[in-house]
Amino acid sequence: MLNMTVRDAAHRVTEEMLLRAMREAAPVLQRVQAGEEKYADSQGWMDVDRWAGEKWLDQIERIAAQVKATCDAFVLIGVGGSNNAARSVIEALAEDGVEIIYAGNTLSPHALKKMLRSLEGKEYAIDCIAKNFETLEPGSSFRILREAMAKKYSPEEAARRTICTGTYGSSLEALCQREGYTFVPFPTDVGGRYSAFSFVGLLPMAVAGIDIRGLVQGGRDMAKLLHEADAESNLALRYAALRNLYHRQGYALEMLASFEPQFRWFYKWWVQLFAESEGKDGKGIFPVAAEYSEELHAVGQYLQDGAPLMFETFLDVKASTESLIIHSDGKADHFDYLNGKDFWDINRAAFEATVTAHSAKMPCVLLEVEAIDAYHFGQLFYFFQFACALSGEILGINPFDQPGVEAYKGWMFKALGK
Ligand code: PA5
Repeated sequence: MLNMTVRDAAHRVTEEMLLRAMREAAPVLQRVQAGEEKYADSQGWMDVDRWAGEKWLDQIERIAAQVKATCDAFVLIGVGGSNNAARSVIEALAEDGVEIIYAGNTLSPHALKKMLRSLEGKEYAIDCIAKNFETLEPGSSFRILREAMAKKYSPEEAARRTICTGTYGSSLEALCQREGYTFVPFPTDVGGRYSAFSFVGLLPMAVAGIDIRGLVQGGRDMAKLLHEADAESNLALRYAALRNLYHRQGYALEMLASFEPQFRWFYKWWVQLFAESEGKDGKGIFPVAAEYSEELHAVGQYLQDGAPLMFETFLDVKASTESLIIHSDGKADHFDYLNGKDFWDINRAAFEATVTAHSAKMPCVLLEVEAIDAYHFGQLFYFFQFACALSGEILGINPFDQPGVEAYKGWMFKALGK
């Protein structure tokens, strides 16, 4: 299970202050654990089995097996919450499954043509994932992919290779019925960024060969822990209360960081979760992310020496998964102090040094993750979703809507003559 510690030379938040804040937030925890009536249309993810129970997993695995048997590539058409969870796990863990190609997340003709070129010579299927089938990026990508498939496959074969993940009663479902596409449910009571444990996240992961049962079990175990723990012992509440205390002290940003590039796409999921959930009503901590050690040579200077805008949350992976020893080749390159050392230990030394240096300047929160595998991704998804719901409640906003996203759409649809 996850563990959390804090390193902060200035002791901006003491254990006593944090415990007091957690006790004060006990009613928030109870409300979130019980499920709030006013958010009934957004809390379907709270019970992992609701959309990722045995019945659904069997169906997901059956469809994934068909795709694997007939395809070299699988196109995930989706944007934001419709692709971030799947992509974060696939890009971290997939090794030799069907290649996953991403579409529906850009309007750039350069990027779209590149995506189409990457399909040349390959057998493929597509999955259009759209809760509200009005979003321009997935809708337009779905069109050009239908056109590409019509050139390659017979209408019957193209239909067999087309899956849509949409809501019951939507225009996407009607399109599937008319055209004979496979239709699978996008949970009506789950928003995109909370949809990892459903067809939305799990089908592309299963096609890519991810252990989705392990991932779902990680989510279930985390859910049990967070639903049973009281205010003083609840890890998600501890994290949510702490980040709000820092925010009240003037820290406007939270930076998620780790020394494992496997989290590269998970950052995008996490940034979206907190930005869309909390950034409203003139409030919210701005979430950003950094991939270390690379970013130490870019934003590191600002973090150590610039304006004190942020606190930092590290994903600290405990289990060594890989070992790579660095040897001397006898040439005088001034790196002999590394002779015989394992990159695992070198990376850890860089991590420890960074936390020591940064915690002299800003609060550093360490979230210890036992390993990077499907099970622990499941834990992380549930942990952050639950913590985000709590944090949003503490902040006093609705963590499940995203009204601000609509503003640019009005202007864009006007410009495009919709
Ligand atoms: O989390 C959310 O609700 C959003 O990020 C949506 O997932 C995103 O805007 C895509 O929406 P849709 O699936 O309706 O195209």
